[in-house]
Amino acid sequence: MTLRALAPAKINLHLRVFPVGEEGFHPLRSWFRTVDLQDELIIQTFPKRWAGGGPIPFKVIASCLPSGTDNIVDGVGRALRRALGVHEDPSIPATRVFLSKNIPIGGGLGGGSSDAAAALVGLREAWQLNLGNEVFTSAAQTLGSDVPFFLHHQLEGITDATCTGRGEIVQPFTPGQRHAVLLMLPGLHISTPAVYGKFDALPAPPDDGDPDFHAWSHLSAPELLPLLRNDLEPAAFALHPELGRLRGDLEQHLGRIIRMTGSGSTLFTLFDDRAGAEVAASGLRDFPVRPLIA
Ligand code: C5P
Repeated sequence: MTLRALAPAKINLHLRVFPVGEEGFHPLRSWFRTVDLQDELIIQTFPKRWAGGGPIPFKVIASCLPSGTDNIVDGVGRALRRALGVHEDPSIPATRVFLSKNIPIGGGLGGGSSDAAAALVGLREAWQLNLGNEVFTSAAQTLGSDVPFFLHHQLEGITDATCTGRGEIVQPFTPGQRHAVLLMLPGLHISTPAVYGKFDALPAPPDDGDPDFHAWSHLSAPELLPLLRNDLEPAAFALHPELGRLRGDLEQHLGRIIRMTGSGSTLFTLFDDRAGAEVAASGLRDFPVRPLIA
């Protein structure tokens, strides 16, 4: 059996981060949106059954992952087998997952978490697992804070949600409009824990109440951009001053507000239509970024 799954990237249109809480995680309040940039997973199972005496053969072959990078899909295989006790289930076929990476690593685009959610859903189908949503959701949470959002996307096709808790409490909504997103990828790998660590050392950002992201999603790009914020920007720019300078230069050049997604390094801005994003992207040749309209 061969199964194909797509794992989209996300941006955080708005990201409020609160002081560090229990277990070293920061409570947050964020507007997540999937964007049109995808990793691809091909899941193949083989007729040869596991004959006992060891773990189910499970191999992940990933393109473009630097050696030594933790492969989250391996973690999904382990987590599913552990959660289900299928480690010793002879009905589980030998499995190979080919993972083609398009989403840059360390870019704040949630690629690893999205791969994990796509693998959870794909392996459930490939292994014909009859498994309740609670097991599934708790496996997602242990894999990473952003995995539950992507799981909602895989299961229900949602694109937008308000995420709270450490990111794992997901309230989907149907957006008023989907803007054209111009991503600007600086090819810089930023460590999420390092950015959160720096955030702790900086003064706490001001509160802005409880914005209603669903209401905001009806706004045009020029109306929406000035409302957006990302509390991790000062920390990321303190660790990588060149990224802060690049953001300033790009804002001046494009004459519009530019935000960072997640813990960086990807920068983005919004347009009401694709044509506007294309004009802007074509003028970025002199900047050290890869533009991508998503
Ligand atoms: O859950 P995830 O693997 O994405 O988290 C990576 C790291 O980012 C955590 O170990 C933690 O240091 C930090 N983090 C945090 N607060 C969050 C999400 C992540 O401090 N809400």
